[in-house]
Amino acid sequence: MSRQKENAALAALDFVEDGMTLGLGSGSAAEIFVKKLGERVAGGLEVRGVPTSRATARCADENGVPLVNVDRISKIHVTIDGADEVDPMFSLIKGGGACLLREKIIANASDRMVVIVDNSKMVDHLGAFPLPIEVDPFGMTLTADQIYRVLKNTGCPDGQAVLRENADKSGPLITEGGHCILDCRCGKIPDPAETAHCLDRIPGIMEHGLFLNLASVVIVGEDDHARVMELSREQL
Ligand code: 5RP
Repeated sequence: MSRQKENAALAALDFVEDGMTLGLGSGSAAEIFVKKLGERVAGGLEVRGVPTSRATARCADENGVPLVNVDRISKIHVTIDGADEVDPMFSLIKGGGACLLREKIIANASDRMVVIVDNSKMVDHLGAFPLPIEVDPFGMTLTADQIYRVLKNTGCPDGQAVLRENADKSGPLITEGGHCILDCRCGKIPDPAETAHCLDRIPGIMEHGLFLNLASVVIVGEDDHARVMELSREQL
């Protein structure tokens, strides 16, 4: 897997040019990319990164990638990030690493989003991976009920939400933005646009892990190469 992610990360460097401001995603694929980027920076490439999590910021620091404060930029040329699922239209499920709110803010503000994954993330339909939804802790039970109804009404066979815990089971995971994550078992999301549209109207939701019409490039790492797939602007 990591060999495949490494090949995807290497291919993503082709989308990076001198002088660019880069959105740096979170997760293992994104960290591999940041390490490779650090090697290019050491070789003279001039870029600056906007990290989507403290872990990515740390990784960038350790690998010599200069960072810029998100509130001091007016443009992000390319964001490079991983994903939990990718469908044939480049719709994504993200949030496995609990960074989806910041990842979506940065991806949405970018001219281009390049997604780097291994082959296991490519699916015909989104939904086998539980959909992460970042919610405000206040009124979370009410929010979970509304989410359940939306998922059912938009054709998802399941809809049960599980509150994500810290890895050491010490309590609910709190995101860097101070919210909780509900992992919603959908089974299958037949109409991601409709589900996203309905979720967008629930006030307790800070953001959901459906990333639609954001990725224009998906790079699938294989054992010995990477497949680069691109959607045109009209297809987005
Ligand atoms: C973090 C994410 C990650 O991009 C996603 O979970 C994929 O992670 P990895 O590259 O480790 O497989 O959305 O919130």
